[in-house]
Formats: sequence, structure tokens, C-alpha cells
Amino acid sequence: MRNVTIENVTDVVINSLGQNGQITQRNREIMTGLIRHMHDFCREVKLQHDEFLFACDYLARAGQLSSDKRQEFILLGDILGIEVLVDMLTHPATGIESESSVLGPFYRENPPVLPKGASTVQKAFDNQESVYFEGHVRDADGKGIAGVTLDVWEDAPNGLYENHDPDQPDFNLRGRFETDENGHFAFRAVRPVPYPIPDDETAGELLRAMGHHPNRPGHIHFILAKDGYRTLISQVFDSSSDWLDNDSVFAVKESLVAEFNKAGEELDQDLYVNFDFVLKPQQASAAKAA
Ligand code: BEZ
Ligand code: FE
Repeated sequence: MRNVTIENVTDVVINSLGQNGQITQRNREIMTGLIRHMHDFCREVKLQHDEFLFACDYLARAGQLSSDKRQEFILLGDILGIEVLVDMLTHPATGIESESSVLGPFYRENPPVLPKGASTVQKAFDNQESVYFEGHVRDADGKGIAGVTLDVWEDAPNGLYENHDPDQPDFNLRGRFETDENGHFAFRAVRPVPYPIPDDETAGELLRAMGHHPNRPGHIHFILAKDGYRTLISQVFDSSSDWLDNDSVFAVKESLVAEFNKAGEELDQDLYVNFDFVLKPQQASAAKAA
């Protein structure tokens, strides 16, 4: 096709899909939407060539920054509200199962496997408040599910995750727990404090371009997994934290907000949280997808 115009270039590019070999139906659907929306975006804002070159340089810099310590593209997606949107599209709320929330860039695989009730705390901070966190994992009928693994991770009282802080021990405030025969789990940890997401480099540039702050409310991350159930990636938020209504990554859901109450003396901790999760059977989501 010669003589593409502002008006026909979108159809020309979409019609070229698959011209040099088969592409899957899903790829065609995604590429068609991507091309259409990106072209409309350029036309809508009348994107100029120097702005296009700036965007290319920006994305190149974001890529160069990414490593196993910093996943810059997840961060950019979070700042734009894309990860939370994709999560809600992938796991629509049913009102029965626990709501999911964003994974974020700080998860580490294979955390220490700890017995029920153990502590994830490997280093004490002067300002820390200790927490006893327990609950049940149930199915939609209210029956406890045994053998669910719970990966938990959170920031330290200085607002840093251990893998971003050379002064914390490896895997501090991370652990893998398992529910008992009644679906009960428990662990000891610290009250999570609000913290700023990394706001230097390209993530910081984006926040400033949007006129946004980087702060997140205090939360503990969870991944719940068991064969036969849909893996749940979620977060539990401290109801007394700042930024609950103004999370920089838009990830707070009312159903995930928990009270951090004063603990009874028998627990030997400052605070106590009771929070239950409900998992969805794997077959239900597979059937829906089909
Ligand atoms: C987090 O909760 O760890 C997180 C989520 C999104 C962006 C940055 C951090
Ligand atoms: Fe976090």
C-alpha cells in the first residue's frame, strides 16, 4: 500500500496482520486493539515527532533499569493504574471469594518455609509494632481448606522491603506458611507502614509528569495457593493507615481493609489481626474462561 494518510493508516496496518504467516486469533485481537488505540491516541493528542522520540528514549531507559531487583515496567503499569485494571479483568469480584490486588514489584519466590505461628521478623527496629496475624482460608461454602500455602511479605518499619535495603537480613519479613486441617493459619510479623514506591528514575519521571505522590498505605502482601483452587494474589491493608483513599497504585479494596487491634497479653505481641480468605475452585474459573 502506497500513500498512507492520517485517515487510512490504521486500517492499512491492521489489514497487514498475518500477511507473512499465520497469527493466533488472540494475537490478532490484541494487535488490532493495540494498533487502533495507539493510532487514535496519536491523532487525539496530535503527537509530535520529538515527543515520539522522547517516549522511545524513555522506554529504553526503563528497560535498561530493569533487573531482578527492579521491575520498572510493572511499576510504570502500577502508576498508570494498568496492573489493577488487568487484575480486575482477570479476576472479576464475585462478592463471595476474596478480592485480589496487585502483585507489585517486590515479591521474591521461595521465601523461608515457617511453621504456623512463627515470626517473619529477623531484625528488630526501634519503632516497630509487633503483630499476631491469624485467620482461616475457606471455600465458598465456608469449609476450611487444609494445606493452602500463604506467601507473605511486607516492608520494614523503615518503609523498605528487605531486597531494597542492604541493612536487612535476606528474606526479612517474608515467609511461607500453611493452613492446618481446619484451614487455620497464623504468623507473627510487624505492622506494615506506608511507604513511597520507588520514585527515582523513570517511575519518578512518570509520577512527576502526572503530578502524583508515590505513597502507598500500610499493607501486607499475600499469595494463597493450593491445587484445585485459583491462586489468590492479594494485600491486606491497615485500616488506620494514611493513604488508604489516595494509594499511588490504586490497589485498595474495602474488603481487604483489616483492623489492627491491641493484642491480648497471652499473645505477647502489640497488635492482633483476624482476617479470613475465601478461595475459588479452579474448575469454576476454567469453565468461565472456556
Ligand atoms: C507493592 O505493594 O509492593 C507495590 C505495588 C505496586 C507498585 C509498587 C509497589
Ligand atoms: Fe507493597
